[in-house]
Amino acid sequence: MIKDIFVNYIDWSQPSLLVAMASICFNPLFWNIAARQEYRTHIITRLAGGNARWGCYALAITIFSLGIFRDSLYHTAMQHQPTHPELDYVEVKVVAGILFLVGNTLVLSSMWALGLTGTYLGDYFGILMDAKVTGFPFNITDNPMYQGSTMSFLAAALWYGSPAGVVLTGLVHIVYTLALGFEEPFTSMIYSKRDTRRSAKTE
Ligand SMILES: *[C@@H]1O[C@H](CO)[C@@H](O)[C@H](O)[C@H]1NC(C)=O
Repeated sequence: MIKDIFVNYIDWSQPSLLVAMASICFNPLFWNIAARQEYRTHIITRLAGGNARWGCYALAITIFSLGIFRDSLYHTAMQHQPTHPELDYVEVKVVAGILFLVGNTLVLSSMWALGLTGTYLGDYFGILMDAKVTGFPFNITDNPMYQGSTMSFLAAALWYGSPAGVVLTGLVHIVYTLALGFEEPFTSMIYSKRDTRRSAKTE
């Protein structure tokens, strides 16, 4: 059945499908490379005239724009793909609507809780959070941003009844999981360095 979907309901000859895949992979790669370069060489801060906060805002705008661009490539890819009759039910649209609402709630509330610099890699610029954010939505999941974003992708795939959309959502999930494995140890390292410095000061 899975094979049937990959063979009959996904048109691999459409360039827009590969373009969407490339964009999905590119985005986390871009922000991780940019953030680590910033951490090592302060390149973005220097480009921003020595102001880390402005550097972080510039990176935020870039990442946000890349996200909008990726979403539009995702929608274009789905438009060029067949739909599946099994997904053409009102129940599927209801599930899509719920996923969309929950996903967006997770993304927007975590942005609200973290603030702009907390959301967009401020830690790499030396703009650290005072304390770990533990309130909603971080009291229900560790990675509300990634999970919420993945849910929104799945919501769109189900809404349009697009098997290709579901496959692209699977790719989003894989790419985010890899990104987390790469990011989490690094940010923990940044914060543990800060905590060591803090405790050295108070002693
Ligand atoms: C998470 O926090 C929110 C708001 O502070 C609260 O309403 C909710 O019950 C909490 N959820 C859990 C599972 O603790």
